[in-house]
Amino acid sequence: LFKTRITELLGIEYPIIAGPMANLSRAELISAVSNAGGLGILVATSHPGPKELREEIKKTRELTDKPFAVNVTLLPASRPIDYEGFINASVEEGVNIIETSGRSPEPYMKLLKDAKVKIMHRATRTKDIQTAERLGVDAVTILGIEAAGHPGMEDVTSFLRIPLAVEAVKIPVIAAGGIADAHGFVAALALGAEGVLMGTRFMACQECPMHQNAKEWLLKLGAEDTILIQRSIRTPQG
Ligand SMILES: Cc1cc2nc3c(=O)[nH]c(=O)nc-3n(C[C@H](O)[C@H](O)[C@H](O)COP(=O)(O)O)c2cc1C
Repeated sequence: LFKTRITELLGIEYPIIAGPMANLSRAELISAVSNAGGLGILVATSHPGPKELREEIKKTRELTDKPFAVNVTLLPASRPIDYEGFINASVEEGVNIIETSGRSPEPYMKLLKDAKVKIMHRATRTKDIQTAERLGVDAVTILGIEAAGHPGMEDVTSFLRIPLAVEAVKIPVIAAGGIADAHGFVAALALGAEGVLMGTRFMACQECPMHQNAKEWLLKLGAEDTILIQRSIRTPQG
């Protein structure tokens, strides 16, 4: 029932992906998701440099023999980031799925293509996933305003974004933003997505290295408790 082009492409059992979360998507969480048949994604930029990322990849590999990916978040940063070094380290450690987010993957496409990895890109706007398709990525994730992290400037919901994305590209679309249970998963597939990517949903799980008090606080929050910050500097973050 849940075989899609995403399960085929990534070699996973269920089209369920744990969205990369800075400092939380560590070996324990990533391996737990991959062992359960989904796809875990490590965050390269949570590590000071490629050396530390290699150690995390090795640790993850000790905990799972299932596929997992590395995300490279291409957002403006206050320190120079060795993106090429992170990508090379991932490839050399045998990771064969790389996800990019935050900005167009264009400057790194040659490197990624030459390494023959599967490339996923995550974005909020239809035109950005079309660009990613043109650049040669294998799958795209579309984010609605409900998404934690960087949901874009336009305030367009996942329910609108998903079917528009599915119409706009030929490669498989993964849906993200506000999906947290089986209902959302099935709804996303009904809208034409071939997989889901969830972030917030994984924050409260046992394998997530967030403080227990924060997990308990998170579970008490309601639908109106999301705050969007940094809008005035055009980089809204939820
Ligand atoms: C705590 C947290 C940290 C995140 N860090 C990153 C990050 O470093 N890079 C990135 O591309 N996305 C990041 N995200 C976004 C997620 O990968 C994903 O797109 C988002 O959580 C999906 O929306 P949802 O939380 O409604 O499921 C983060 C999300 C959360 C909740």
